[in-house]
Amino acid sequence: MQKIIIANLKMNLLTLAERERYIESFKKELKNKNLANSQIVLCPPAVHVEYFSKSLKAKNVSIGAQNIFSEERGSYTGEISAPMVKSVGAKYVVIGHSERKKYFFENNQTANAKIKIALKNGLVPVFCVGETKEERLSGSAADVIMKQIVEGLADVSSAKIQSVVIVYEPVWAVGSDETPTGNEILEAKILLRKLFSHACGPEVANKIKILYGGSVKAKTVGQVCLEPGMDGVLVGRESLIPSEFLKIAETLDS
Ligand code: PGA
Repeated sequence: MQKIIIANLKMNLLTLAERERYIESFKKELKNKNLANSQIVLCPPAVHVEYFSKSLKAKNVSIGAQNIFSEERGSYTGEISAPMVKSVGAKYVVIGHSERKKYFFENNQTANAKIKIALKNGLVPVFCVGETKEERLSGSAADVIMKQIVEGLADVSSAKIQSVVIVYEPVWAVGSDETPTGNEILEAKILLRKLFSHACGPEVANKIKILYGGSVKAKTVGQVCLEPGMDGVLVGRESLIPSEFLKIAETLDS
C-alpha cells in the first residue's frame, strides 16, 4: 500500500539561496530513487509554497502548507487562508500541530474550524493528535487523543473524514530524541481505528490514513512505522536534509 511521507520544514529555509539549495539537493536525491509506492508531501513555509510547487513537478511529490487561518478572507492582519495556499499549489495543510498549540494557543476547536475550511477548499487536512508526557504518565493519553479526535472532527461528515490524514504525534516525541515503542504506536493506531469505526463504520475507518510523527529518522522508521503498520510518517528535523528524508521514504517504499 502507498505510504505518505510528509516533510514539515517548519520555520527554516531563510533565504532564497537556502531555498534553492534545498530544492536542487532534493531533486538530485529524488532522481536516484525509485519511490513508486510513496506519496511525498513537502510543507515549506508559506512564502515558499508557490515556488516549491512550480519547481517540483514529480508525480509522487505534492506540496502542503504548515498552517491556514480558519476564515477565508477579511480583516485578519498577517493571516493566510485556505484558498490562498490552494491557489499557489498546496494540496495538503498541517493542522493541530503541537507547536501551534504551544506557541499560538491553538486548541481542538481551532483545529476543527481549520479542518472544515481546508476541506471546503479541497485541501487535505493533516491532523496531528497526541498526548503530552504528563498525560501519558497519568494514564490519560487515550482520553486526550479521543477528545482531540471528537472535538477536532466535530460536524465533519463521514464522507469528508475519509480524506483527512491523521498523524499520531506524541508531543513528547516532537523535537526530542525520544520515540515511542512500536507497541505504543500500535496501541494509538488501534484506538484511532476503533474510534473511527464507531463513528463512521469500519469501511470508512479502514480508508483513513494514520501516520506517525515525532523524531522520525531513517534508523527508527522501521520501529515507528513498519512495525506498527502505520500508513506513513510526518518528519520534522530530518526533512531538512533531503538525502536523509528520502532515505526514510526509500525504507518505507521497499
Ligand atoms: P521532529 O518534528 O521530527 O523534528 O520531531 C516532527 C514534527 O514536528 O512534526
